[in-house]
Amino acid sequence: MKKEITFTLNKEKTIMEVDPQWTLLHLLREVLEMTGTKEGCGYGECGACTVIIDGEAVNSCLYPVMEVEGRSVMTIEGVALKDGSLDPIQQAFVDEGAVQCGFCIPGMIMSSKALLDKKDKPTEEEIKESIEGNLCRCTGYVKIVDAIKSVAGGR
Ligand code: FES
Ligand code: FES
Repeated sequence: MKKEITFTLNKEKTIMEVDPQWTLLHLLREVLEMTGTKEGCGYGECGACTVIIDGEAVNSCLYPVMEVEGRSVMTIEGVALKDGSLDPIQQAFVDEGAVQCGFCIPGMIMSSKALLDKKDKPTEEEIKESIEGNLCRCTGYVKIVDAIKSVAGGR
C-alpha cells in the first residue's frame, strides 16, 4: 500500500505517494524521471547514484524512500544556478577536462559539492576522501581531483 511523504526536492516542497519498499533512487529515476542521478551497481559500491540529503552525500540506491520524509534532497538537476548557468563545481569539471563518458560525473559532483558546501578550502586529502566512494572507469581521477581543487576556496 502506498504512503504519502513530504520532502524538499531541489528546493521545492514535494508531496508524493510512494511504495515503502522503494529506494530514493527508484523514486527519482523511475517515478519522477529525473535521470541525472545514475544507477550503476545498485548496492552501494559505485557512487553513481549519489545525492545530497540535508547536506550529506548519500547513495540513493540504498536510501529507503520513507526516510526522505521531512528532509531536503538535492540531485544533480538542482545544482545549476537559477539562470541556467553552471555551478562553479560543474564548470570546473568542464574546464579541467575531467569528464569522459560522464556516467560517474553526477555522483562525483554531488560528493564534492557536499564537501565544498561544508568546507571552503578542503585539503587534497579531504577532496580525495569525499570521492572515495565514487568509481570512475575512464579518467584515472587526476583531472577530477584537479577540478575540485580548482574551485576550492574560489566559490
Ligand atoms: S548505484 Fe548506488 S552505489 Fe552504485
Ligand atoms: S567519466 Fe566515465 S565513468 Fe567517469
